[in-house]
Formats: sequence, C-alpha cells, structure tokens
Amino acid sequence: MGVEIEIKDLTKSFGKQVIWHDVTLTVPAGEICVMLGPSGTGKSVLLKTLIGLLKPDHGSIMIEGTDIASCPEKELYEIRKLFGVLFQDGAMFGSMNLYDNVAFPLREHTKKSESEIKKIVMEKMDLVGLLGTEDKLPGEISGGMRKRAGIARGLVLDPEIVLFDEPDSGLDPVRTSFLNQLIIDLNAQINATFLIVTHDVNTARKVPDNIGLLYHKHLAMFGPREMLLSSEEPVVRQFLNAQVVGPIGMSEEKDADELEAEKDMELPPLPPIPLQQEPSNGIPRASQRPPGEWCKLNGVTPPPGSFAKDMNMTIGA
Ligand SMILES: Nc1ncnc2c1ncn2[C@@H]1O[C@H](COP(=O)(O)OP(=O)(O)O)[C@@H](O)[C@H]1O
Ligand SMILES: [Mg+2]
Repeated sequence: MGVEIEIKDLTKSFGKQVIWHDVTLTVPAGEICVMLGPSGTGKSVLLKTLIGLLKPDHGSIMIEGTDIASCPEKELYEIRKLFGVLFQDGAMFGSMNLYDNVAFPLREHTKKSESEIKKIVMEKMDLVGLLGTEDKLPGEISGGMRKRAGIARGLVLDPEIVLFDEPDSGLDPVRTSFLNQLIIDLNAQINATFLIVTHDVNTARKVPDNIGLLYHKHLAMFGPREMLLSSEEPVVRQFLNAQVVGPIGMSEEKDADELEAEKDMELPPLPPIPLQQEPSNGIPRASQRPPGEWCKLNGVTPPPGSFAKDMNMTIGA
C-alpha cells in the first residue's frame, strides 16, 4: 500500500552553502508526488537525503516510526530496503547486460536462487516493456530504454517507496509521455509511494496527485495538483506555466530593477488545469481523485476550461 514519508524542518548545507532550509512536507502513502525546481535547487540532494546517503544538518525524516535522519546505520540499512531508486542517468553497469543489471540488487541483498531471480527479473522486464532485450548492453539501447531498465532494477525488491530523479531528462516529448504513462501504470499496479523529481512542467501538470516546488533555498509550496495549478502565488504561477514574467530570473532571482520594470505588465490568464493522466492498464489508481474535487472542496474556482476532455487530446494525454 506504500509508506508515508514525514519530513519536518529539514535543512541541508555543504560547508557555508545552504542548499535548502526548514523543508516540511508529508509524502502521502501510495500517492504520486512531483518535486519541481530550477536546476541546482537541491532536488537530487533531497532524494539522497531521503535515502540516507546524505545527512541533513537538522530536521527529521520519519518512515514507519524511524527517523532516518538520525537513526543508527544498521536501522538505515533495513529502512533502505523499502526504497527503489531510479538515478538520473539510469546508472547501469556498462559492462553487464540488462538481465544482470536488473538482477544485481537481488544477488546483492537476497539469498534467492538463480531460478527465483530469473522469475522476478523477467516479471519486472515485462512490467517496463523490455522483454526480449535481456542480452543487450546498456550502451546498445536508447536512453528511454535505459531508463526503463533502471526502473525495472528499482522494482526487483518490491519497494514501498520509489524515487525517480529526472526520469524525463534527455528524452524527447514523445518518449517522455510514454515514460509518464509507464510511471502511472506502475503506480496503479504496485501501489507504492512515488516521488518524482523533475523540471518538466508538462509532467508536473498531468501526472501527479501532489506537486512541490523548491525555489530559492526553500519549499515554496507543496500540496494537491489542483491547488498549485490554480495558485496565483507569483513563483508557483511563473514556474508551473513556464513564464518569463515573475520573480524567477535567468540565474535564480530577479533584482529589484528587473521586478520594477515588470510591475505593470499584465500576466496572461492561468491556463486550464488538464485532466490527470489515467492508467492505461485498466487498473484504477487508489489515490486518483475525481477532476475538480480539490477545487470544489476548497471553494476555489479553477481557471476557465479546466478538466475538459478534448483539451487533453490536443496537448497529448
Ligand atoms: N556532495 C556534495 N558536496 C557539495 N556540494 C554539493 C554536493 N552535492 C550537491 N552539491 C551542491 O548542491 C546544489 C544542489 O545540487 P543538486 O541537488 O544536484 O541540484 P538539482 O538536482 O536540483 O539540479 C548544487 O549547488 C551542488 O553543487
Ligand atoms: Mg538533479
């Protein structure tokens, strides 16, 4: 059913450089969250902190009653077994074929026999649509296939939490759509908690149940997809709509003069909220809410034209 991650007042710096401070959010069990942010805002650092590869300066990360920010190494080792991770480039061993790459965590962390391992590897390869490519080397396949193989490897230990670091980086828009569909289908099938780091606004608009935005060393906002997509908060609005007008400049923040010059510019209206992308494998996602539910419950009027079926067709569902 997936496991919740409760993050409180988390702060991380390297030497004098503060990466982000006082980050507080709860990643709900079984749901899909997307964490957005400009490059260099510490998204990868956040993922590494969540699996205990990096230690925060202070704050807590509670998973099933254990604070992984402060627990002993031995407990951390156990908790890590709950995680599957897709690193940014797939992180395949170049000299191993896909079969051995995917089998690696099973050989490393379990005492399963080779025939049991084979059953699991083939099942996960099938899940990500890579059956028949077991003998290929990572260098012989496309970037999109490498990411799929990375996902298969992340799933072999049946994780309760899956972290994806920019699964869409370096992929063309069509492959990104296919990969997003795979992520949604997997969530429906395995019901684990998914946290996806990306700077792809399209992915953020259509895929997740919740969106977070890291900006200028803090978590600018975190909440249900409909909340952020109907938000007028300047940073959220600018980033989620990929606009030039707003507080975010070429290199982080705009200065006072730049903002003054924009003062009287009229902002384009918020675009309609698209329907959330649905599973294609016929399995409903347990955490998917009806379109417009959050807006209705919170008395928020969504931008005109939101949740129209034909709109999704044109953007490419
Ligand atoms: N191990 C490290 N030691 C020192 N600085 C680091 C380390 N890892 C990341 N950083 C710094 O942290 C910042 C955020 O990096 P990163 O999390 O990779 O950004 P993002 O994934 O959002 O693009 C960068 O300025 C980077 O140089
Ligand atoms: Mg990164």
